Amino acid sequence: MDSYIPQHILVTGGAGFMGSNFVRWVLAHQPFVQITVLDKLTYAGNKANLANLPESRFSFVRGDICDVALVDKLFEKVDACVHFAAETHNDNAIVSSQPFIRTNVEGTRVLLEAARKHNVRFHHISTDEVYGDLALDEPGKITEATPYCPSSPYSASKAASDMLVRAWFRTYGVPVTLSNCSNNYGPYQHVEKFIPRQITNLLSGRRPKLYGDGLHVRDWIYVENHSSAVWEILTKGRLGETYLIGANGERNNLEVMRLILKLMGKKSDEFDWVRDRPGHDRRYAIDATKLQTELGWQPSHTDFEEGLLSTIQWYKDNQEWWASGKQAVEAAYENQGQ
Ligand code: NAD
Ligand code: TYD
Repeated sequence: MDSYIPQHILVTGGAGFMGSNFVRWVLAHQPFVQITVLDKLTYAGNKANLANLPESRFSFVRGDICDVALVDKLFEKVDACVHFAAETHNDNAIVSSQPFIRTNVEGTRVLLEAARKHNVRFHHISTDEVYGDLALDEPGKITEATPYCPSSPYSASKAASDMLVRAWFRTYGVPVTLSNCSNNYGPYQHVEKFIPRQITNLLSGRRPKLYGDGLHVRDWIYVENHSSAVWEILTKGRLGETYLIGANGERNNLEVMRLILKLMGKKSDEFDWVRDRPGHDRRYAIDATKLQTELGWQPSHTDFEEGLLSTIQWYKDNQEWWASGKQAVEAAYENQGQ
C-alpha cells in the first residue's frame, strides 16, 4: 500500500488531552516530521501538556480555529492538518451549547476552507457518539455503515462537523479522512472526565460520583492507541473515508468505578450515586475491523487494569498539574447535583 508521510503537520487542539498525546507520539516515532500546534488554551488546554519538546521540530501558536486570517497564515506553511480542537465535555454542552456550535462546527468550516485553498491533507478527529447509543442487550457494534443519530448537544455538534468534512471532500475534493473513536483514558485527561474525576476525588479526600444506575457502557481505549491509529489513517487511509477506532474495551461505569476503588485501596461501596445526566447515552461499542484489516492497525496497549494503574500513578505523581482546577470543577458539578 502507498503511504504518504507528511513533512509539517498543523495539530489543532494540541494542548488538550488527546492532541498532546498525538504530538508527543509523532515527535517520538517519526524523526523527520515537523509539528505546529494551534490551540486557544481554553480551560481544557494546558501548555504544560507540551513541555520539553524539541524546539527544532515543534512550535506552539496560541489562537482560535475560528480566526480566519490566523488559520490562513498557518496553512501556508504546512502540508497536513490533524484537527483535534473542540469543546468536548457533554455535561458542559448540556449547560451551554453555544461554544460547542462555534468551535466544533464553525471552527471546522474555517479549517476546511483553508485546507481547500492551500490543498492541505486534512484528518478530522471525531467521536463514536455521533452514531448515538446502543441498547445494553443489542447484538452487534457500531460500524462505519451505522447511520448517524447523535443524542446530545456535544455529539450533534461533532456530527455536524463530520458532515462538513464529507461535504468538502465531495464538493471541492479536499483530501480528507475522518476517524471516530470511543472513550479515551490515560495521563493528562482533564479532571472533569469520568476516570480522572474519580481518581482525583480519591486523591483529594472526596468521594467518587456515579451517574444514574451506573450501568452505562463505554468502550475504553488507552490514548496511545488512538495516536498510533490516527497516524496509520493519516499516512495510509483512503481519501474521503471514515475509520472507526476502538480496542474492544467495553465496561460499564460501575465496573470501572469498582476497579478504581480496588486499585486505590478503597472499599467497593466508597462512592456516591448522583443525579443522572439528561439524555445519557446507554452504550457505545466500536467494531474496528475496517481499520485493522485495511490498514493493519493493532492496539499495543490492551490491558485495561494495567492502563488504569499507570493512569492512577500519573495523577498521584502530578498533583500540581490538576490540583489548582479541581475545586472549581467540583463546585460546578455540585451545582448540577452531580
Ligand atoms: P480536550 O478537551 O482535552 O482538548 C481540547 C483542546 O482544544 C484544548 O486544548 C482546547 O484549548 C482546544 N480548543 C478548544 N476550542 C478551541 C478553539 N476554538 N481554537 C483552538 N483550540 C481550541 O479534548 P480531548 O479529549 O483531547 O479530545 C480531542 C478531540 O477528540 C475532540 O475533537 C473530541 O471530540 C475527540 N474525541 C474525544 C474522545 C475522548 O474520549 N476524550 C473520544 C473520541 C473523540
Ligand atoms: P465522560 O468521561 O464524561 O465521557 P462521555 O460522556 O463522552 O462518555 O463520561 C463517561 C461515562 O461516565 C458516562 O457514562 C458518564 C459517566 N460519569 C459518571 O458516572 N460520573 C462522573 O462523575 C462523570 C464525569 C461521568
